[in-house]
Amino acid sequence: MEKIPTGIEGLDRVLYGGIPSGSVVLISGSSGTGKTILGTQFLIRGAEEQRERGMFVSLDERPSNLREDFKDIGFEIESLEKKDDLIMLDAASPKVGLVSDEEYVARFGLEVDSLLNDISRIHNEKDVDRIVIDSLPLIAFRTEEGVGTTIYRLMSLLNELDSTALVITEREEGSAKISRYGVEQYAARGVILLNTRMVGNEMRRNLLIKKIRGGDHDRRRYPFEISKGGIEVYPYPDVYSKRGQKTF
Ligand SMILES: Nc1ncnc2c1ncn2[C@@H]1O[C@H](COP(=O)(O)OP(=O)(O)OP(=O)(O)O)[C@@H](O)[C@H]1O
Ligand SMILES: [Mg+2]
Repeated sequence: MEKIPTGIEGLDRVLYGGIPSGSVVLISGSSGTGKTILGTQFLIRGAEEQRERGMFVSLDERPSNLREDFKDIGFEIESLEKKDDLIMLDAASPKVGLVSDEEYVARFGLEVDSLLNDISRIHNEKDVDRIVIDSLPLIAFRTEEGVGTTIYRLMSLLNELDSTALVITEREEGSAKISRYGVEQYAARGVILLNTRMVGNEMRRNLLIKKIRGGDHDRRRYPFEISKGGIEVYPYPDVYSKRGQKTF
C-alpha cells in the first residue's frame, strides 16, 4: 500500500514512511495534547512539500482564532489560503449561531447531513487531497440519530472520498478508553495516541501509533515537543528513565 508522508519531523520515521494513502486515521488525546497542531501541520506540510491541497474542518475554533493562535508557532495559514492550497471550513460559527465572514462556511444546523454534504461538495469542487476534522465529538454530541451511526457515516464518507483524512477525537485524561466514545478506532484504518505525563513537576509529551491497518509501524512510545515549527518527534524510543539520557 502506498504511504504518504505526513511531513512532520520524526513522525514519518515512526510510521515507517507515512500513513496509507487515502486512509482515515484517528488522532486521540486529552485536552492540550497537540491534536489541533498535529492536524494543521499535516495540512501545511502536505501543501508545502507535496503540493497537496488541504481542508481543515474546524468545529472547535473559528478559523480567525486559529490563524492568530498559530502565528506564534510559525504556521502561515493565511498565505497558504491565498494560494488556494489550504481551505479553512468554518463549522464553528454556525454551530453557536455566530455570523461568519469566512469564504468557506458550513451549513451546520442541527443535523449532520448538511455538514457531510458541505465536506463532500468542497472536496469534489476543489480537488482536496488531505482533510482534517477537528473534532469528531463536536459533530457527534449534537446528533439525534445515535452517536455510533453518526461516527460510522462520517468515517464512511471520508473513506469514500479520494483523500487522506485525520479525524481528531478526545480522550478523557487517565481513562482506559483510547477514545471518547470507545468506537471511533474501529472505523478508522489507523490510530495515533497523543499523551502527556508528569516527570517531577514538568509535563512531557509522547505519542504512540496504536494501529495502522495494512502497514507496519514502530510500536514504542516516542517523545515529542511543541515549539516554533510545530510538533517534532524525537528519536529516543525509551521514554522511561535511563541514566544520563534526557527522559520524556
Ligand atoms: N508557541 C508554542 N510553543 C510551545 N508550545 C505551544 C505553543 N503553542 C501551543 N503550544 C502548546 O500546544 C498546546 C495546544 O495544542 P493543541 O491546540 O494542538 O492541543 P489540542 O489537543 O488540540 O487541545 P484541545 O483538546 O483543547 O483542543 C498548548 O497547550 C501548549 O502547551
Ligand atoms: Mg484542539
